[in-house]
Amino acid sequence: MVKITFIDPDGKKHEVEAEEGTTLMEAAIRNMVPGIDADCGGACACATCHVYVDPAWAERLPHLLQRSETEEDMLDFAFDVRENSRLSCQIKITADMDGLVVHVPQQQG
Ligand code: FES
Repeated sequence: MVKITFIDPDGKKHEVEAEEGTTLMEAAIRNMVPGIDADCGGACACATCHVYVDPAWAERLPHLLQRSETEEDMLDFAFDVRENSRLSCQIKITADMDGLVVHVPQQQG
């Protein structure tokens, strides 16, 4: 299992255990992390699973910032998109992400 920490806009931490091969979005939904809606169920078609990759982790694992063209297009519909924005349904969890920190935006969509 891989430990992931979601930090909400108020700074509250939600630590979850996730299985390798699942997605960050699935980990959030299974653990009822507030602020991740995931309306389309992971089809990269809603932008309501938006998160910010923690800068320290983006530096450590630069591939965490690599978005597909479809994801780029969907992010146009997200609120307050930044350089480290990702759709969490598009991030597959791997062992090297143990301890990963991501931030939940103020609002989705
Ligand atoms: S769950 Fe819809 S884009 Fe990620």
